Amino acid sequence: MRDATKIVRSGLTRAVAGEPLHAGPVFAAPYHAPGDPAGVPYTYARAHNPTWTHLEDAIAQMESGSGYTASALVFASGMAATTAVFGAVLRPGDVVVLPESSYYAARVLAQQYFAKMGVQLRYAPTANNGQAGQLEGARLVWIETPSNPTMDVCDIAALADAAHRAGALVAVDNTTPTPLGQQPLALGADISVASDTKAMTGHSDLLVGHVAVRDAELLKKLDQWRTLTGGVLGPMEAWLALRSMATLPLRLERSCENAQAIAEFLTTRPEVEQVLYPGLTTHPAHAVAKQQMRYFGPVVSFVLRDKAAAESFLAHSKLLTDATSFGGITSSAERRARWGGDAIADGFIRLSAGCEAIEDLLEDIAQALDAARS
Ligand SMILES: Cc1ncc(COP(=O)(O)O)c(C=O)c1O
Repeated sequence: MRDATKIVRSGLTRAVAGEPLHAGPVFAAPYHAPGDPAGVPYTYARAHNPTWTHLEDAIAQMESGSGYTASALVFASGMAATTAVFGAVLRPGDVVVLPESSYYAARVLAQQYFAKMGVQLRYAPTANNGQAGQLEGARLVWIETPSNPTMDVCDIAALADAAHRAGALVAVDNTTPTPLGQQPLALGADISVASDTKAMTGHSDLLVGHVAVRDAELLKKLDQWRTLTGGVLGPMEAWLALRSMATLPLRLERSCENAQAIAEFLTTRPEVEQVLYPGLTTHPAHAVAKQQMRYFGPVVSFVLRDKAAAESFLAHSKLLTDATSFGGITSSAERRARWGGDAIADGFIRLSAGCEAIEDLLEDIAQALDAARS
């Protein structure tokens, strides 16, 4: 079956006469579990839950590729998934190579906690595979491509190859494209991690994250981290995620088409100083992106003259919800520099294309740019 068919059908249960097509969420803390717990599939919900299992099977199927089978674990958020990778892999004295520009909270977590516990941090740019120059003695290379919010792209296969030769594990934050848009494990990475709060679930109404791996030992360590730290995903969120993911192929195709059209349109406007989107042939790593991505993602970043121009643009847009996050079915945008933490211009806007009619989006963006100019 094609990936889209598998994903659309991944929420279905086995066909049993009289049973519903989709199982509901299983609300439980303890489960009936007499005798030896090893013989009982579910004992206590901090360790496992049937709704997680269903969601994890659906995600694992998306992360699997030719010649390998992935396993997935779901977490209460993308940051919980990130923390699990750092926590399961890094020990005092280990070196982690981080991207200079990437989702800032992962870098803050590394600085505020892991560095203080003796993990050494090295930084390098994502662009031009800059992290390849920092691999000596590294335990983990953390990649984010395309990076949020600057849309830098690196070559996952080339970096994974170089990292493995240096003895390091490779983790890719794959939030922006989702595993339907880009498969890090198929490209040679050891760990695929994502905030499924974004395009994966796409309705802007839940937090969820996942980690996918091929290696059984690594899976065990991550699973133990989740059970012992205990900030787990609720069954209702797991069920909502499973339900939302069935429409991922439709949503991603539409939102990425819209993102491409918006990016191309923005390049024609004199008010826009720079457009950052890997789908543009002018993006410095377009060829790499084209090779490793099935979809270029819903996020388009662009730069207006200054803070006032960006704020005016957002205030005049009627369709771009002024909110953070991305990957939702409704388009949104924000002036990213308002948060701090990223080396970006004051007029930098991160836009997330939704699934609205592209004509309406382009008309709205055009009038908001006109208004911002005056
Ligand atoms: C690239 C990336 N990774 C991880 C995260 C963290 O995800 P969450 O908010 O689900 O914890 C985000 C959130 O914005 C993100 O953009």
